[in-house]
Amino acid sequence: MEATASTVSLNADEDLDDFTPAKLVKTLEKNGITAGDIKKLQDAGYYTVEAVAYATKKDLLAIKGISEAKADKLQLEASKMVMMGFKSATEVHQTRANIVYITTGSKELDKLLGGGIETGSITEIFGEFRSGKSQLCHTLAVNCQLPISMGGAEGKCLYIDTENTFRPERLIAVAEKYKINGQSVLDNVACARAFNTDHQTKLLLLASAMMTEARYALLIVDSATGLYRTDYTGRGELSARQVHLGRFLRMLLRLADEHGIAVVITNQVVAQVDGAASMFGGDQKKPIGGHILAHSSTTRLYLRKGRGETRICKVYDSPCLPESEATFAINPDGIGDVKE
Ligand SMILES: Nc1ncnc2c1ncn2[C@@H]1O[C@H](COP(=O)(O)OP(=O)(O)OP(=O)(O)O)[C@@H](O)[C@H]1O
Ligand SMILES: [Mg+2]
Repeated sequence: MEATASTVSLNADEDLDDFTPAKLVKTLEKNGITAGDIKKLQDAGYYTVEAVAYATKKDLLAIKGISEAKADKLQLEASKMVMMGFKSATEVHQTRANIVYITTGSKELDKLLGGGIETGSITEIFGEFRSGKSQLCHTLAVNCQLPISMGGAEGKCLYIDTENTFRPERLIAVAEKYKINGQSVLDNVACARAFNTDHQTKLLLLASAMMTEARYALLIVDSATGLYRTDYTGRGELSARQVHLGRFLRMLLRLADEHGIAVVITNQVVAQVDGAASMFGGDQKKPIGGHILAHSSTTRLYLRKGRGETRICKVYDSPCLPESEATFAINPDGIGDVKE
């Protein structure tokens, strides 16, 4: 299987508006919003009309220099340009038929997931250490660049690394599997280390700006919860932690929605101390992040170790996949199927 060069020359001569299905916030200028106000919106991280339309009035008032009257005007103009009412289930069905899935590299796993990792929503991967969460992320960072015909989404990847486990070598190894140029694959992955939970959140503002400038297909946060465990310790800080985490997840959801990208986040598990063990099928481990995380992720996948390089993935929660399992392997060239 030979991939074409088109998989890697993603920003060649493309129309700016083609990079994202969202409308750039500057188009509001046509509707009487001043360039100065557009600048204020961008500085606050609102790069698309959708971001403005989905924001509450309270959110808009929190932007420096936006008055009550301006917030009303912004909501009015943005809502004229963004479909926010009801549509028929037929339309929803048609839209869903166009959703692109990113292959995981394993046919068994793809089958379990109904094609792969869904774009436009959040997939959470949780599991113990060495269960393959980061390896899956690395494989997806390459696979999202592949042509649609090969299971890719023809876009770049943004990788937020909170644990210093991002390894470009792993990407090159996966690229070799598809016989595509390792250098171009690396050029299409923008990686940032996040050092604390505030920084991790700020990086999403940069991410949304980048997504209006180039075609991205995937945003990875590995891990989404690790820094929360170190920034907020002790029971007394639990509620502050959940509020902050909730805000972070809402921003992720917005990016998935506006730009139609797949968001993949990883999460660790902790040993179960209370009676909730039965909820997780008698398993003594549960994902961290609590209800906030459980309700923000669209699809939740639980990875656990199998024999040798094999791993088992179980669908924990999904709006349309049954709770079943698939076995895959962590190979030197990334995620793949178990060899018989
Ligand atoms: N080059 C490689 N070739 C084959 N397998 C590898 C390679 N590098 C790592 N692995 C496998 O991947 C496993 C580590 O998986 P990974 O780093 O994805 O775990 P994780 O779930 O992210 O763990 P953590 O919670 O500690 O971040 C190793 O135990 C090893 O089996
Ligand atoms: Mg990891």
